[in-house]
Amino acid sequence: MKIEKAMVTGGGGFLGKAVVRKLIEKNGDVYSFSRGRYPDLDAMGVTQVQGDLANREDVVAAFKGMDTVFHVAAKPGIWGSYDSYYQVNVTGTQNVIAACKENNVARLVHTSSPSVIFDDYDMENVDESVPYPDHYLAPYPETKAIAEKNVVQAAKEGLPAIILRPHLIWGPEDNHLFPGIVSRASRLKIVGSEDDLVDTIYVDNAADAHILAAEGLISNPELSGNVYFISQDDPMSKWAMANAFLKAAGKPPITGKISARTAYIAGVVFETVYKLFRIKSDPPLTRFAAKEMATSHWFNISRVKADLGYVPKVSTKEGLKRLEAWASEQDEF
Ligand SMILES: NC(=O)c1ccc[n+]([C@@H]2O[C@H](COP(=O)([O-])OP(=O)(O)OC[C@H]3O[C@@H](n4cnc5c(N)ncnc54)[C@H](OP(=O)(O)O)[C@@H]3O)[C@@H](O)[C@H]2O)c1
Repeated sequence: MKIEKAMVTGGGGFLGKAVVRKLIEKNGDVYSFSRGRYPDLDAMGVTQVQGDLANREDVVAAFKGMDTVFHVAAKPGIWGSYDSYYQVNVTGTQNVIAACKENNVARLVHTSSPSVIFDDYDMENVDESVPYPDHYLAPYPETKAIAEKNVVQAAKEGLPAIILRPHLIWGPEDNHLFPGIVSRASRLKIVGSEDDLVDTIYVDNAADAHILAAEGLISNPELSGNVYFISQDDPMSKWAMANAFLKAAGKPPITGKISARTAYIAGVVFETVYKLFRIKSDPPLTRFAAKEMATSHWFNISRVKADLGYVPKVSTKEGLKRLEAWASEQDEF
């Protein structure tokens, strides 16, 4: 048995497109589901189905005939109404689960996030036994946590499913982390300690893990319901990483510093002002972003290595080389 007809939700997005590429390398029949239409996917021979995750009929119709679904799509970000996140991340995932069941999809790989367990404090070398926190500072981690729990429950009820938690995905075509750092380069400050470590993952390594998860469900159905952190297995100072990104974009490194407390207070003030005046754009800082920047988070990935044979094939050094080559070809960097 192998992956034959695969649907990638959000196949036109950053990670989604990398998963699509890996599936094409494996000669799979590949479909993508999203609201937009992506010329790159047309060029790759991917069948695109346009629809909204929040609309159950769209999702059920799109999954007809699929043996494998990679549910990669989500509403990421640090700002927006709870409802707008809930619609995509929770209702959308519930619709994905329902559509898998209605169409007898053989396996589901769900992209989650380590932010679901982020508890405002340092997390160093923690594994998947770390519990969910009792509160969240932003709708993204909160709704991703509900979605993850829904998939775990669906797996308990018989839907073969694996959940992956990639932390800070980066690489060529990154539309969040890299452009976010580069566009704010002149205003960025080191928050808290310079030595805090953070896990990241190169986009093709994250995509590899998704394929391994689907194949793992075929060779060992007992893995269903498992949650895995995935990373470069090479935690780095987050400021060293940010400065490596800036170097790749030909920009000078971050030098200014502010304390973790000042950053958190700035987050409170920005959130209050942006809510009061109903400003739609992202605030320069939020409480969640301030806490994330001021703490270590890196994970023990022994479980994914042992169960799925995951190894980060592209090293951080090689990934940065590829990022720099790509950035040098983009007008905006
Ligand atoms: N990037 C990271 O550092 C990171 C870290 C941890 C976890 N993750 C997780 O990894 C996954 C992929 O993230 P990414 O960075 O690749 O995001 P991305 O580039 O923003 O892609 C998200 C995709 O989701 C689709 N989508 C969003 N809302 C939709 C809706 N209502 N209906 C149908 N499709 C919808 C978008 O397509 P349309 O807009 O065309 O609909 C887009 O293709 C997400 O689950 C995210 O939570 C990402």
